Amino acid sequence: MNTVSQHRWAEKYPHLGQGLIPTESCVSEDHYRREIEQIFKTSWLYVAREEEIAEPGSYKVKRLAFADCSVILMRGKDGTVRGFYNICSHRGNTVVTETGEETFGHSKAAVLSCRFHGWVYGADGGLIQVPEEERFYDCFEKAENGLTAVHTEVWEGFVFVNLAPKPAQNLGDFLGDYGAHMGGFPYSDLTHSYKYHTTLDCNWKIAHDSFAEAYHVTTIHAGSFPNVFSTGLSDVQLFGPHRTCGVCLNMTVAPTPVAAIAQKHARGSLVAKGEGTMLPPSINPSGRGDFAFELSVAFPNLLLHISEGIWFTHQFWPLAHNKTLWEGKYYVRAPRTNSERWALEHAQLLQRNAWLEDTQTMENTHRAMASGAKRYINLQDEEILIRHAYHVIEQRMNAAE
Ligand code: FES
Ligand SMILES: [Fe+2]
Repeated sequence: MNTVSQHRWAEKYPHLGQGLIPTESCVSEDHYRREIEQIFKTSWLYVAREEEIAEPGSYKVKRLAFADCSVILMRGKDGTVRGFYNICSHRGNTVVTETGEETFGHSKAAVLSCRFHGWVYGADGGLIQVPEEERFYDCFEKAENGLTAVHTEVWEGFVFVNLAPKPAQNLGDFLGDYGAHMGGFPYSDLTHSYKYHTTLDCNWKIAHDSFAEAYHVTTIHAGSFPNVFSTGLSDVQLFGPHRTCGVCLNMTVAPTPVAAIAQKHARGSLVAKGEGTMLPPSINPSGRGDFAFELSVAFPNLLLHISEGIWFTHQFWPLAHNKTLWEGKYYVRAPRTNSERWALEHAQLLQRNAWLEDTQTMENTHRAMASGAKRYINLQDEEILIRHAYHVIEQRMNAAE
């Protein structure tokens, strides 16, 4: 009889070690500042979906508070998505006035006009029009005063930016085998979405860690998903700084009567058994019947999950060493009937409750860690993704110093 080792992931990835993890990187302001410079300002970061800016002339402004800036992602008449810093060449006002963390707009002419004095930029960033241009002096070069470009690339409809003046890798090389593993899923067909965000008083890594294991499901999710998921992971794989695994169901638990009805009408819930062929062959390679969803992390701050008929993301934007903007977005196929709509709403309510349960622990964890009473945390083998996360961060920061 084959017995599974209780330390199977540490044995598969011995370079991660088995030791305690210091809490210092979560509570230190100095560590936070170095992470921003050495990780967030040099990594590819997911900022928009292509569907959000589907039409030529449509744009999205995404605030990147950690870098004290916002970026404009705009689709040109040529269909290309380009990224720019949201700052005007005239006197430095924001070109698009922001209305929150994310601002959307559309210009039929595919131009952006600064509200302050009316300078007009094209979707390629070029400066097109300057009111009273003749009053500027000889040193003013119109051709050199376009919007400042941000490195922008697209993978599977996910628009990423990199704030480094010269990124060390293009997006394809940065994602590497992770991109191949998570590619080929019909992300753009599942556009019916539920979106939540909030600011949490915790370090961004504490937020990441709370979503990067299934050990907590029987306790924290006793309300929303009682005993539904198995606490062990399947098929853990590390791809450079990125990581992935499968999360499986506990098949002995029957759905509640209402959930059973909802699951008959539409697959909106991760708990429902997924039957179909939407998942790429790299996912659930052993064809486990209890597979629920793939839980993956694109370094540094994007959790991307796929399941039959469902994909969802968590993203953690650092605001300070003890403050994080969390964004949770859940996507399914648009309902075609009212009963499908009801089934999806039912699934989403349970999911929303689960996310509330998840986020609840984060501020408590940070506050307790900040007391300094404990200097280390303990990780078990099924928390390997968390161990990998700390390992990669330290590795990157040591390499940069
Ligand atoms: S600051 Fe933008 S037009 Fe003056
Ligand atoms: Fe959870």
